[in-house]
Amino acid sequence: MVLINVEVRKITREAEGVRSFVLARRSRLNFPRYTPGSHIDVHCGEGIIRQYSLCGDPADRRHLMIAVRQVYPSRGGSDLMHKVVEEGDRLEIGAPRNNFPLVEDAPHSVLLAAGIGITPIIAMADRLHALGSSFEMHYFSRAPGHTAFRRRLTHGDFGDRVSFHEGLDPARTGEVLDGVLGYRVDAARVYICGPGPFMDRAREAAQGAWPEDSIHLERFAAKTALAGAPAHPFSVTLARRNLTLEVGRDQTILEVLEENGIDTAFSCEQGVCGTCVTDVLSGTPEHRDSFLSRGQRESGQVICLCVSRAVGDRIVLDL
Ligand code: FES
Repeated sequence: MVLINVEVRKITREAEGVRSFVLARRSRLNFPRYTPGSHIDVHCGEGIIRQYSLCGDPADRRHLMIAVRQVYPSRGGSDLMHKVVEEGDRLEIGAPRNNFPLVEDAPHSVLLAAGIGITPIIAMADRLHALGSSFEMHYFSRAPGHTAFRRRLTHGDFGDRVSFHEGLDPARTGEVLDGVLGYRVDAARVYICGPGPFMDRAREAAQGAWPEDSIHLERFAAKTALAGAPAHPFSVTLARRNLTLEVGRDQTILEVLEENGIDTAFSCEQGVCGTCVTDVLSGTPEHRDSFLSRGQRESGQVICLCVSRAVGDRIVLDL
């Protein structure tokens, strides 16, 4: 993947534990065009790569904006972005990619964000406002001090479309979600981004009134029924290399490939970004990712190497 050299031009404290970063390209070229819902891979340092949604103005081709929440315990990325990276530092990023695209011609859009899930959602709101489209936004946060971009949302051009839900307990959050998603206007779409329990509760609230293809989700961490489930060892055959390797119960396919010096693209290592998706030639994948669509899962023809496994004792990959 081609990397883009950037300089951290500005860092802003957006809320308790949330920093935004404005990145500027170091060459005279513009950034590639991107659409709301896009994210970039950020090489944070020390070999750590993380995905962050773009939350700035897509029309500004000279700058990109991301926001990062400090997480505890950190797997490394948020610590680096909060404690090490400073204005003027140089980073490498990947080109924007979009796994969470906005359907721009929907008659109405419902935007639901919780916590740092606001980042792709605020970009969608900006775009819908620019298009003159009908939308509403609901933003859930732990407390006013944890509400990132509050000023931008309150005093921006579409402040009247934003409802802040601050400091609600899980039961009350569920009630609000039931109220918002209990009915569907025409062919409206709903976009949901936030922590796993929030996403799960929003999905539950949408059941019935919202058809599956009208619900758009972006998770920040893998959460599937099988994530963390017991695992058994299996063999992985790399057809193009005519090589078979053993994957232990405590290993991932990706780790085994790395240990054996087989280079393959990866990024999040959480089954979220899709960088490691590989074709399956035979055997049945046991999907543990949050990236593949239902159709891709059911086809059994692709697998995320970083988290998913084999159902049986062998799987053959197009590697
Ligand atoms: S590396 Fe991101 S899904 Fe596997």
